[in-house]
Amino acid sequence: MSGAAVVPKAELHIHIEGTLEAEMVFDLASRNRVPVPFADVEDLRARYAFSDLGSFLELYYSCMAVLRSEEDFADLANAYLARAASEGVRHAEIFFDPQAHTARGVPLAVVVDGLSAALRTGARRYGVSGGLIACFLRDLGPEAAMATFDQLLEHQSPIIGIGLDSAEVGYPPAMFSDVYARARAVGLHCVAHAGEEGPPEYVRQALDILHVERVDHGVRSLEDPALVARLVDDQIPLTVCPLSNVRLRVVGRMEDHPIAGMLDAGLAVTVNSDDPAYFGGYVGANYSAVASGLGFDDETLRRLARNSFDAAFMDQSLRRRYLDELSRPVS
Ligand code: ADE
Ligand code: ZN
Repeated sequence: MSGAAVVPKAELHIHIEGTLEAEMVFDLASRNRVPVPFADVEDLRARYAFSDLGSFLELYYSCMAVLRSEEDFADLANAYLARAASEGVRHAEIFFDPQAHTARGVPLAVVVDGLSAALRTGARRYGVSGGLIACFLRDLGPEAAMATFDQLLEHQSPIIGIGLDSAEVGYPPAMFSDVYARARAVGLHCVAHAGEEGPPEYVRQALDILHVERVDHGVRSLEDPALVARLVDDQIPLTVCPLSNVRLRVVGRMEDHPIAGMLDAGLAVTVNSDDPAYFGGYVGANYSAVASGLGFDDETLRRLARNSFDAAFMDQSLRRRYLDELSRPVS
């Protein structure tokens, strides 16, 4: 990984369950005596050939069966933070999918307490700041999202915001207006996946109805010039995930990724890893992939890193500290 790929940065689109490496699937399966439907690590990795979001989600949810205890969630997040820190991540806003665990009988407290313990330790051990964003699985519908939100509040979960993920097409953001209104009312940040496989209209709904502060992915916004103009005017950050987009066939090849045009248009683009265990690399690899695939120079990578701090949910003094570090000449 070249020096520029490890510039100080924030990661704003990372599903902690998407950092579950094949080796850890087998380690946790044996620790928890959970059967897995794969022969070995190689057999599991051989299945990382996806045709679309749905084909990925099937494997993603199936691997999660090995996550059972608070320690499992803490180990998962700790491994991510160690890896992220080694790639220049100074701040990570981490998505998790509460319903994917409670639906398997794992109590919400086990998930949240394990993850938040690792974040606290990670801040000390690796110098990575950040927070947790609870995502609702849109294919489970708005009532299930509301019930999960109630559980999160009841548990006094230390989350900084809410998000919306899983199968996109057929589940427009407007379905979730009530739970987003409640989250805003209690002061939580709001983001949502939109415009990954879904149409530009979903991005509009995320902005107009859910009042999101950032759009996760958003690459299909480019099909609607008026929407692009609005995203530029309002400098709504887009958390783009280049390796994910190629692996899930949202774009054909890295060389065809629209991120260069997005930057040229003045969009507030950030680069992130989404589900790095499954998509061939963590955030540094995503920076390297746009550098080699699209010829981004070091200055462009630094611009992406600057955008990531600008788009992060952090107080201004911390933002200033990270931006100052980023602007210091490399010795
Ligand atoms: N959950 C994990 N990764 C996701 C993605 N890329 N899109 C939607 N839901 C997800
Ligand atoms: Zn995602």
